[in-house]
Amino acid sequence: MKTLVSTRPLASLETPLLAVVVAQGSAPPVQDASLDRAIASGDYKGKKDETLLVYGNGKSSRILLVGVGKPGDITRNSIRRASAIAARRARGLGTKALAVAVSQEARGGLGAAELAQVVVEGAAQGGWQFTELKKQPEDPKPEIETVELVVDAPDKTAAEAGRRIGDAIAAGYLFTRNLQMQPGNVCTPSYLAEQARKLGAAHGFSVTILDKAQIKKEGMGALLAVAQGSAEEPRFIVLEYQGGSGAPVALIGKGVTFDSGGISIKPALNMEDMKFDKSGATAVLGAFEVLGRLKPKINVVGLIPATENLPSGTAIKPGDVVKSHLGKTIEIINTDAEGRLILCDALSYARRYKPAAAIDVATLTGAVVIALGHHAIGMLGNDETLLAEVRDAGERAGERCWPLPLWEEYRELLKSDVADVRNSGGRSAGTIAGAWFLREFVDSFPWVHLDIAGTAYLEGEGAAHAKGPTAIGVRLFTEFLLKRAGA
Ligand code: BES
Ligand code: MN
Ligand code: ZN
Repeated sequence: MKTLVSTRPLASLETPLLAVVVAQGSAPPVQDASLDRAIASGDYKGKKDETLLVYGNGKSSRILLVGVGKPGDITRNSIRRASAIAARRARGLGTKALAVAVSQEARGGLGAAELAQVVVEGAAQGGWQFTELKKQPEDPKPEIETVELVVDAPDKTAAEAGRRIGDAIAAGYLFTRNLQMQPGNVCTPSYLAEQARKLGAAHGFSVTILDKAQIKKEGMGALLAVAQGSAEEPRFIVLEYQGGSGAPVALIGKGVTFDSGGISIKPALNMEDMKFDKSGATAVLGAFEVLGRLKPKINVVGLIPATENLPSGTAIKPGDVVKSHLGKTIEIINTDAEGRLILCDALSYARRYKPAAAIDVATLTGAVVIALGHHAIGMLGNDETLLAEVRDAGERAGERCWPLPLWEEYRELLKSDVADVRNSGGRSAGTIAGAWFLREFVDSFPWVHLDIAGTAYLEGEGAAHAKGPTAIGVRLFTEFLLKRAGA
């Protein structure tokens, strides 16, 4: 998808599809008799997500109005969403080009740079389809080749800067989504490692892969314990992007390429969705794709423990006690609580970087879906300032985070009779117990845990998104890192 900013007058735009984002109660900045009639009749109001497609008489073969609701309610998210709706429609229609204009009233006070960024992000989100593994896709539609954002002349330079950021995010985002979509027999731990290696080679940052023997030598007993039931070997992936000076930010992603639950096996219904259990890892990789393209002035380390979680004669069993990288011993209560086991070794490994901040992202608990549904990331951590910073980044990204408490009282849930800690606290406060477990392995650096089990993939399609993976985390990480880099 190629994007560009233009200042062509709307009336002279020759395009198969011109999408105009409009606010409720204001006229679109484009003259067309059938549009005028639809608006005069009151049939079209410009409510949020409301669309109207007309085949006008002008240069644009089709005009699509996309409503964003009342001017006072419009945010970055509204524009991103409207752009995604437009791109989804373009993809459905099979038009290879899409022009997008946002009426003055629909801008919601956004600057031209932000506007361009979110229009590009939205278009990449809405235009996405995955047909790679089909020999015969039914009703195949071409990809959108160009997205042209039409702005007023004074906005051109700022919009161009925003477009560049949007482009990089879109690339990271597509990379992540396509990788999330790969099934467990394709995307194994070593496949994930290969993707990381390719990213490093393409963008010139260093990538180190630890294989099973090296993981063992490093003493990552918890990661090894999860991996021991599988024929596929685990990998520990380290990405190091150096763009600035000072202590790095560590991004840590759960890379379970398939989670069957292990001996504590999951029910069969929807188990196929557990290919998405690597979504934390893919979010970190997507963020590095963005870093590679934008090259902000900041240091970032990516850590990805990657493994399958399968039952077998060699698998870990409930009751087993394993020794973690940090040295603490862990009683395995439930082999399906494997995410925290692999992440605890990564958090412990992170100590050597003395990170300025560490953020882990993981499809960690079904409980976060019960608590927050599919609209918010569960957020917990040990540092109020960092929590607020991450939350702000999530707001800008349209990847919202909601805090849950990590009070001392909840630590009780993880007390073990035989080991230093146990890996499951039972049914109560599942997301908090998961985060508390991780906290046991965080050694005096500011840390935030993001539980994306409810937001990493969606079971149905929506107005602005296809069914399946969301690439959640890529935009949040980008917003977080760009702000830290002072960009
Ligand atoms: N990968 C799952 C969490 C998950 C659930 C992700 C639903 C996406 C959708 C995780 O490894 C898991 O199984 N967690 C257990 C923890 C429990 C055994 C303490 C859970 O949530 O049931
Ligand atoms: Mn599990
Ligand atoms: Zn899992």
